[in-house]
Amino acid sequence: MRPTPAPKTYRVKSFGCQMNVYDGERMAELLAQQGIAPAPEGEEADLVVLNTCHIREKAAEKVYSDIGRLRRDDGTSPLIAVAGCVAQAEGEEIMARAPAVSMVVGPQAYHRLPGMIAEAVAGRRAVDTDMPAETKFGALPARRKVGPGAFLTVQEGCDKFCTYCVVPYTRGAEISRPFAEIVAEAERLVEAGAREITLIGQNVNAWHGEDAKGGAIGLDGLARVLAELPDLARIRYTTSHPNDMTDGLIAAHGDNPKLMPFLHLPVQAGNDRVLRAMNRSHTVDSYLRILDRVRAVRPDIALSGDFIVGFPGETEAEFADTLKLVDAVGYAQCFSFKYSPRPGTPAATMADQIPAAVMDERLQRLQAALNRDQYAFNRASVGKRCTVLVERKGKLPGQWLGKSPWLQSVHFEGEAAIGDLVEVELVHAGPNSLGAVRVVGSPSRA
Ligand code: 5AD
Ligand code: SF4
Repeated sequence: MRPTPAPKTYRVKSFGCQMNVYDGERMAELLAQQGIAPAPEGEEADLVVLNTCHIREKAAEKVYSDIGRLRRDDGTSPLIAVAGCVAQAEGEEIMARAPAVSMVVGPQAYHRLPGMIAEAVAGRRAVDTDMPAETKFGALPARRKVGPGAFLTVQEGCDKFCTYCVVPYTRGAEISRPFAEIVAEAERLVEAGAREITLIGQNVNAWHGEDAKGGAIGLDGLARVLAELPDLARIRYTTSHPNDMTDGLIAAHGDNPKLMPFLHLPVQAGNDRVLRAMNRSHTVDSYLRILDRVRAVRPDIALSGDFIVGFPGETEAEFADTLKLVDAVGYAQCFSFKYSPRPGTPAATMADQIPAAVMDERLQRLQAALNRDQYAFNRASVGKRCTVLVERKGKLPGQWLGKSPWLQSVHFEGEAAIGDLVEVELVHAGPNSLGAVRVVGSPSRA
């Protein structure tokens, strides 16, 4: 690689989960701190960070095609950094296969990007997929400008080792960020304009720490402390594992009014044999009992989950159990995926991999059921009064878009500004969003 001029502009492209969105924002802040500016819309950036996801199919192939697309007509490319979980899993291979890439940086090492950029400018390629003991968080700049809804990583990694999943390998062992660090970041987010904070982690409800007095606390305790921030109106958390739904966290849904009535609790499948083969360590019944308990303290809770169809060996009857579970729960919204073998995971070498056509057909049936329930949930919301946190302008003049407490997209017309919490009545339901009218005379900053 030849030396290149220091980059003046950057673009970060994030794929995949909210953790990656968060990491992408933090990398952008770090680059801005180095005096590199975001590239204007439609213009080429001097430095492109591809913040990749490895959780499902073709992720790596997508990275190579993205790299190819960055090539200019004269054969040169901007400075390219590959970050995220594909970087972690396939760092050396990326370097060998894609000469245009000058930096490969894993999800636990991206605070070292500035040094890597200096190397790249000097003409040296660098791979950093360390999982250093010192965490990246301390090395990142303070957060200054955020939207009304902000993500805050409180926990990373996973020790659950579901047999299909790469996360324990790419993101490493489960670690909780210290309490004081999280509270300080939350305070800065609120000062910077956040009105809603979503606490995020691969296993967010496994978060544990010590409060200011040295007492052991879990996510419910953390949410209780954050609820004391006066300008913070809403708290959410994602993604959770059924086994870490503690009594305290369930109770928090009933007694922490800032905790929004929404729970994303992936189940993955509705059959106990499949769940065992997935190493999920919960059963259909234990999962449903958790939902019952949450509903008992928060009857209007909106439930969400993740599903995988076509796990190796899944029979038609076992898949039918998943549909039965969906019918029993009545989810407000869900994510569903075809099983994708991930290299290095136990399920990738299991017998009885399911043919693609069977997976396609199962996914269609599952999604039809989930869409039906999402639409039903939205229709059942019509007539309710609630707040909407305004996130952006809508397509029509005078229209605003935001989220209901149940995480539905809501649009309404009238006087408002981004960041307002507006009292509305939901008047119209579509499959993916709701229309609302402002409740006259309501304060805009409730
Ligand atoms: N194949 C398909 N879906 C997967 N997920 C995780 N690993 C795989 C895989 N190998 C899904 C799970 C998880 C979500 C983030 O992605 O449903 O909850
Ligand atoms: Fe992956 Fe399972 Fe951990 Fe979720 S709980 S990140 S699916 S290993």
